[in-house]
Amino acid sequence: MTADHAKSSQAGSDRYSAPFPSPFSPNVAFCMGHVSEWGHGALHDQERALLSPQATHKRVEQFTLGRTLARQALGAFLPGQAPALCILRLECGRAPAWPEGFVGSITHAGPWGAAAVARNQQYSGVGVDLESVQPISQAFRRRLLRESEREGLADLEETMALVVVFSAKESVYKAIHPAGRIPLGFLDVETAFQPLGAGRGEFSWRLISDGGTGFPPGFSGRGVYQWRPGLVLTGTWILAEGKSEGERSTPAPNR
Ligand SMILES: CC(C)(COP(=O)(O)OP(=O)(O)OC[C@H]1O[C@@H](n2cnc3c(N)ncnc32)[C@H](O)[C@@H]1OP(=O)(O)O)[C@@H](O)C(=O)NCCC(=O)NCCS
Repeated sequence: MTADHAKSSQAGSDRYSAPFPSPFSPNVAFCMGHVSEWGHGALHDQERALLSPQATHKRVEQFTLGRTLARQALGAFLPGQAPALCILRLECGRAPAWPEGFVGSITHAGPWGAAAVARNQQYSGVGVDLESVQPISQAFRRRLLRESEREGLADLEETMALVVVFSAKESVYKAIHPAGRIPLGFLDVETAFQPLGAGRGEFSWRLISDGGTGFPPGFSGRGVYQWRPGLVLTGTWILAEGKSEGERSTPAPNR
């Protein structure tokens, strides 16, 4: 774990401290937090207007949690400016519209939320996904995975393994979809998992079908998965053309 990862895991008080460190390199600002601490921040009026008038209290809390964590992550790059930044939506769908120069991703599951933000000079996409661990039906299992994908997760019991695969594919979708705008099914992405122990591992992924502009069949990437009882976090990133993880384009994010 890098020093930056350690900082990211310290978000919040001990009681609500993030259960996972950042799955990303220090060039990606990652912020994870609990709704009790981050779910009652201020929303901008235009953000509030994105919520349906019928939105439940839980949905308002989760939306607020995601936006608050996203602003916190943006603050690593734009100290002082982040509270004023409004994170609306792309024209089609629910994907967040990030400030000029940034890519990012938001997730929430149960009381937890997370956001990841990076400069678009270095990354063309990042995806983050949290999932509560719940049984997956046989019918959905068939739509979700190939048996080869299960093999890499042989150390995990069935439900946990399926949720890891599901989450990994959701994070890939989030990293690709805002730019690609072409619907992807779960079997359009092939994943391979490599456990590293201590509830953590790496995965690689490859598009089987066309993911849209810049994402032809065969396009591939990497990610990290982490799990603990009841909760899974995955993160993936797509480097901008010609960039490598080693190039640090900004000061390290501070949380
Ligand atoms: C969009 C989707 C990925 C969201 O995942 P989820 O597990 O339901 O919910 P999460 O809490 O993790 O994420 C929700 C957040 O994702 C973001 N999001 C929504 N649509 C998005 C998209 N098309 N691209 C990127 N991010 C998106 C939003 O920020 C949303 O939160 P908000 O509405 O509060 O702003 C999922 O609902 C979906 O539509 N999946 C499509 C099918 C799929 O994943 N196929 C996999 C093929 S690889």
